[in-house]
Amino acid sequence: MPNLPDSGFHRVASFYDRLARLVYGDALEQAQLSLLPHLPQQGRVLVIGGGSGWILEQLLLAGKQLDILYLDAAPAMLQRARHRFERFRQPHQCMVSFRLGTEQALQPHEQFEAVITPFLLDLFPPLRLQQLMQTLAAALTPHGRWLFADFWPMQQPPPLRQRLLVWSMYSFFGFVSGVKAKQLPDYTAHFNSLGFKEEFSRSFYEGMVQAKVFYLSPALS
Ligand SMILES: C[S@@+](CC[C@H](N)C(=O)[O-])C[C@H]1O[C@@H](n2cnc3c(N)ncnc32)[C@H](O)[C@@H]1O
Repeated sequence: MPNLPDSGFHRVASFYDRLARLVYGDALEQAQLSLLPHLPQQGRVLVIGGGSGWILEQLLLAGKQLDILYLDAAPAMLQRARHRFERFRQPHQCMVSFRLGTEQALQPHEQFEAVITPFLLDLFPPLRLQQLMQTLAAALTPHGRWLFADFWPMQQPPPLRQRLLVWSMYSFFGFVSGVKAKQLPDYTAHFNSLGFKEEFSRSFYEGMVQAKVFYLSPALS
């Protein structure tokens, strides 16, 4: 097992996709698909925490001219995404580069027209999440878009079904993958504090999964 920061999903790479589908059906995929129309027609896009590469294939199929940086902390996830890309035979107009690491692997000068965080932000406790989100916000161009898909805290108190699912996810991935968070973050507070406004929202899986697009409010950026 490599000793790299946040690389614990290396251990589950061989079965993560099947497990997610078993529990949530196609809800996690549908949430990510709903974000694709919000990508620019061309430009640089960061996919961070994309996992085994399903989302990458969808980006290639979106008919856009994107320069994609695919950044993931788990070597086995990145390797799977790379293999998928190498086997991808359909025509596309994208350039793709792969990078192993966390947000810390971004260069200070790197800027993106869109940042995609697919089921990434729920992994971190508040302070770490704040640092991660600050880094990603700094990598977004002033008119850029943050494409977010994740598990979302439902009404308080959450229904028993959500409580059980969230508890099982954090227990399992805490033990196996070293996930430090114990509960779903208050994403709205984090996005608000960074000056982001929501421009699109769609819910899946009875509201437990949300796809959202955020932009930097000119007044605050
Ligand atoms: C819960 S999985 C989601 C995978 C994929 N997005 C999906 O929905 O199937 C989280 C992914 O984020 C990656 N990851 C975790 N922390 C990261 C970080 N700080 N920087 C980049 N990737 C990270 C993991 O290796 C894993 O591939």
